[in-house]
Amino acid sequence: MKTFYIETFGCQMNVHDSEKVIGTLVQRGYSRVEEPGDAELILYNTCSIRDKAEQKVFSRLQQFKKDAGKGKVFGVLGCVAQQEGEKIFERSPHVSLVCGSASYNKLGDLLVRIERGARRVTGLSLDTEDTFETEATRRDSPHKAYITIIEGCDKSCAYCVVPFTRGPERSRTSESIMREAHELAQMGYTEIQLLGQNVNSYLDPSAAGWNFATLLRYIARVEGLRRVRFTTSHPRDFGKDIVDAIDENPVLCNQVHLPVQAGSDSVLRAMQRLYTRDEYMRRIEWLKRSPREIALSTDIIVGFPGETEKDFRMTLDLMDEVEYDSMFSFKYSPRPNTSALQLSDALDENEKGRRLAILQEKQRMIQIRRNAGLIGRNEEVMVEGLNKATGQWIGRTAQNRTLNFTDAAGRAFEPGQYANVAVTRSGPNSLAGETVN
Ligand code: 5AD
Ligand code: SF4
Repeated sequence: MKTFYIETFGCQMNVHDSEKVIGTLVQRGYSRVEEPGDAELILYNTCSIRDKAEQKVFSRLQQFKKDAGKGKVFGVLGCVAQQEGEKIFERSPHVSLVCGSASYNKLGDLLVRIERGARRVTGLSLDTEDTFETEATRRDSPHKAYITIIEGCDKSCAYCVVPFTRGPERSRTSESIMREAHELAQMGYTEIQLLGQNVNSYLDPSAAGWNFATLLRYIARVEGLRRVRFTTSHPRDFGKDIVDAIDENPVLCNQVHLPVQAGSDSVLRAMQRLYTRDEYMRRIEWLKRSPREIALSTDIIVGFPGETEKDFRMTLDLMDEVEYDSMFSFKYSPRPNTSALQLSDALDENEKGRRLAILQEKQRMIQIRRNAGLIGRNEEVMVEGLNKATGQWIGRTAQNRTLNFTDAAGRAFEPGQYANVAVTRSGPNSLAGETVN
């Protein structure tokens, strides 16, 4: 029996790609092991969104260098594989397989070549109309499932590697997506997260021609599904019809992640984000006006080249205006191939760090305030498990907040079960409460 180990870095797309890669390997007779030491094939599914993420894979490869040749084969998958290509063989000569996500359909063939003793094989073409579909996906959770609806990205944000690592946009047919959603519901999944680098630009390639909002409405009708989420959205393609769909379908979770990146028009322009602050705020107004009380989250980059103190203050000001429920924030990291490399006026790391700390402290205060406002409410949670250290059950609300809870009657809960919880306490990153009947 051939054994493999896989470690995944990066976003949910990568996590889900790994679920499909694992399925492909299991189908080919491989079995998965939990320790790299026990594996004949060691795979890293990599992320290159920021330099720190990219360096992780090289430090892993370095760690196991001494094991090369002792019956171990190393493979690099994902965004660093696509970005660095054959250069990986030079830097880490013990690697045998380099394959980007746009070539995963060829993974089976590449493995055959490795099994036959090929020393170096690559899947690096981005010139594809395909999406990676397999019947054999090995999902981690029996309750929550990812479904890819669109791969790649056609935008060209000045800072971002994704168009270079994941290639052009390819939407899956609505038939294929709906079939997968029905199958998952029949298997007992109640929560689905639709995935894509830019789900809003979903366009059904089949005759039905559904756009994203139409797809959402149909998915929401799949019997058995209780929660449908989606990520990630691009403000430029985020239409009012998406908010209307959420308003009309309680199964669509009242939670939207809408990355703004920066609060000043000149930085947004330099980033080539294709929207102004006002245009972004119009979308936020649609979302805020919804009777569903839609939770909002975002991504922000500080220290993009040329970002002045005044620009930065405009980002802080936008945060006060929107009051996001959560936020992911990053220091700008220069990436290979991206157009921002041409820009002058880079900020130094200390200044980026200073801005990031200010921004994160502001967001912490916003979250403390917003979460405190939820005390006294009843929320439905999906149970994720038990925190043995605190004795609390871990739950997640439709708005995607963590709500830890206890049960006065001492009942036990199964992961995947739903419970009604009264919120009694709050912190910056989570809520706590007690079950109600
Ligand atoms: N530097 C810092 N952050 C980045 N992101 C994307 N590219 C970079 C970069 N070069 C952030 C964006 C994006 C999130 C996934 O990662 O905020 O929305
Ligand atoms: Fe990382 Fe972006 Fe690739 Fe996801 S798509 S793995 S975030 S580089």
